Amino acid sequence: MLLQRTAALALCNWSKAYAKNVVYDHYFKTAPFAVFFDLLEDKGQAAEFCNKGTRIMNHDQKNQETRDRFYVTTPIYYVTARPHLGSLYSTLLADVLARWNKLGGKQVFFLTGTDEHGQKIAQAAEKVGQQPKAFVDSFIEAYHHMWDRYELSYNHFIRTTDSYHVKAVQAWLSSLLDKGDIYKSFYKGWYCTPCETFLTDKDALVEQAGQIPACPSCSRPTQIVEEETYFFKLSNYASRLLTFYQENPDFIQPKERMHEVINFVASGLKDLSISRTTITWGIPFPGDAKHVTYVWADALNNYITAVGYGQPDRKQEFESWWPADVQVLGKDIVRFHAVYWPAFLMASGLPLPKRLLVHGWIRMDKQKMSKSLGNVVDPQELYDAYGAEPVRYYLMRQMAITHDSDFSIEDLEQRITSDLANDLGNLLNRTVALAHSHSIVELPVITVWSPKALDVRDECLNMLEDVEKYMNDCSIHLALARIWKFINTANAYFHAQEPWKLIKKDPEACLQVLSVTCHSLRAIATLLWPVMPHKMEALLASIGAPLHLGEHTRDNLKLATWNKGFMLHQIQPLFVKPESKQASAKPMTEEKKQVAHPEPVCDQNGIGIEDFLKVELVVGTVEQCEPVPNSSKLYALQVNFGERGMRQILAGFAPYHTCEALCNKQAVFLFNLKPRAMVGMQSQGMLLAAQDAHGVPHPVMAPVPVPNGTRLR
Ligand code: MSP
Repeated sequence: MLLQRTAALALCNWSKAYAKNVVYDHYFKTAPFAVFFDLLEDKGQAAEFCNKGTRIMNHDQKNQETRDRFYVTTPIYYVTARPHLGSLYSTLLADVLARWNKLGGKQVFFLTGTDEHGQKIAQAAEKVGQQPKAFVDSFIEAYHHMWDRYELSYNHFIRTTDSYHVKAVQAWLSSLLDKGDIYKSFYKGWYCTPCETFLTDKDALVEQAGQIPACPSCSRPTQIVEEETYFFKLSNYASRLLTFYQENPDFIQPKERMHEVINFVASGLKDLSISRTTITWGIPFPGDAKHVTYVWADALNNYITAVGYGQPDRKQEFESWWPADVQVLGKDIVRFHAVYWPAFLMASGLPLPKRLLVHGWIRMDKQKMSKSLGNVVDPQELYDAYGAEPVRYYLMRQMAITHDSDFSIEDLEQRITSDLANDLGNLLNRTVALAHSHSIVELPVITVWSPKALDVRDECLNMLEDVEKYMNDCSIHLALARIWKFINTANAYFHAQEPWKLIKKDPEACLQVLSVTCHSLRAIATLLWPVMPHKMEALLASIGAPLHLGEHTRDNLKLATWNKGFMLHQIQPLFVKPESKQASAKPMTEEKKQVAHPEPVCDQNGIGIEDFLKVELVVGTVEQCEPVPNSSKLYALQVNFGERGMRQILAGFAPYHTCEALCNKQAVFLFNLKPRAMVGMQSQGMLLAAQDAHGVPHPVMAPVPVPNGTRLR
């Protein structure tokens, strides 16, 4: 310890001599001691650190600050009800990106909030006989509560009724009026209130004689609007926008959305109506009391007003955060963000956001989940039933960001069982449990690794590189899939090394296997921290490698020398397998609430004996067992069922038991299960098993030797 501290001080002085400037002073005064120790783990890295310091000094301070900052936003939500899974999804994407950047040592500002003005809100409030402000106020607590439950680490929650926002939007309008970018005229056309959209010729409205056209986006009836209005000169910006798209091909992700936007702009832009006289619930237009600001002109500006735009005392703050690095939004609001918003910013002489991350919809029964369709899933019920982090994982893993994805309770439970409890949970449990059962608490630093261990390390380094690439590309689902590929590698290694045998014949080799899994777990848990922060902190604590957020957190993992010692202690299993809660994914119903709080009732209408007799449970002897190629989990068992014949049955026992342990055992099988193919091989039944507290399955054995083929009754 003393040595480490001395080394840290020496390094500090060395760095100061090199870097001779405040940034280093600042770094060393503010960084936690643990960071020094991490830095000291590798001399090459320490040198790199100092070189970096020298390089940093060559840049001007402001650039440095900007480069080390990450500003991420979510759309602001219409507050007509409590948040649903769709709103959680947008916010969660931003949270994971925010945390990922914190893990890279950046200062992060994560903004979310609510969109509280406009016709849609006014109508919803009127429907329940409330004033709009009282109506929106009634939902805000629910947002904060839900976002806190789901561990969303936002820095600020903006409400468009906040007075600083109102004043800043008015200042923005005044400046554009002064510049001549806004003028007064008359608007006549179709308007969709649920989408708060003025529809244009390009929206291909089908106007049939005497019929009201439906909105092309939400399919609901539109209404005709005829009123005096202020227009924003959008048409002036078409060519500048096209040039911008051309010069910034990564502005919109995924790229296909960029093509849609370019086509929309290239076919010509009309000036945009940005005020209403037929409603009163909105920001009063400066200098013209008859008008209120169109809700999108008000709402889009939240991204700048929240960080200080239009507030003279926050000028520096604004300059340090804007432009946003990533703006997350759903595919239904691309036009507003990719066309109107950049044009507003151009008119104001402000830089444009660096990237728009456009996600698809979460669907229920093949339809967009939405409050107005009444098919929304209540995140509170999912939280009650499964906890925040398994749901966070499911949403980030299952939903391919750029596509629409179907929500299903079956998939959620499957992910929790197989990915979290079986794959990841067991990698930790089996490591710590084995150590614990042999009173191993401390794993020493290993200096000479076996070739197999080096293979795992190389695979770990490959994974780190791939994950970095995917995350920087905002492809969170791909990053998670890549991490799981490595979890399977680590599980397969552990299993193949049979450390439970090595502990007796070669204890050093056993320690090496445990150290490999701990190094792997350290990398895995650090990378998974943005998605499951509390669980991963618990995992890291249980191997004695607590997380320190800092500039080098991710870089340290990339050190080719696996040079850590670990302190192991057992913890409760991180993930609990859900009993089947699939009764209903139909949300907000009493039925669903019962799923969240199951009563321990005895079902008087249980199955009759005739139903039980349909299930054939039969005893058989495992005569052969072989790992299935291309699967880290499956064994192919050849099972002797006496007069009923031989059968091949695939069983997912490879991560837990050796073939030897299963061979010549008489176990119980589900005999009349429909045959099915797995990884190209047929399985003709199922080996029954009971899982212990750590999720390790143990085959159900015949109580005494019985003839093969005996049926259980
Ligand atoms: N208030 C506007 C946004 C203004 S931003 C300056 C709005 N609000 S919204 O509440 O209708 O939608 C907000 C975000 O939630 C959108 O990005 C939308 O795509 C997203 N989602 C709403 N339902 C969704 C799903 N079913 N699935 C995924 N996201 C969805 O639009």
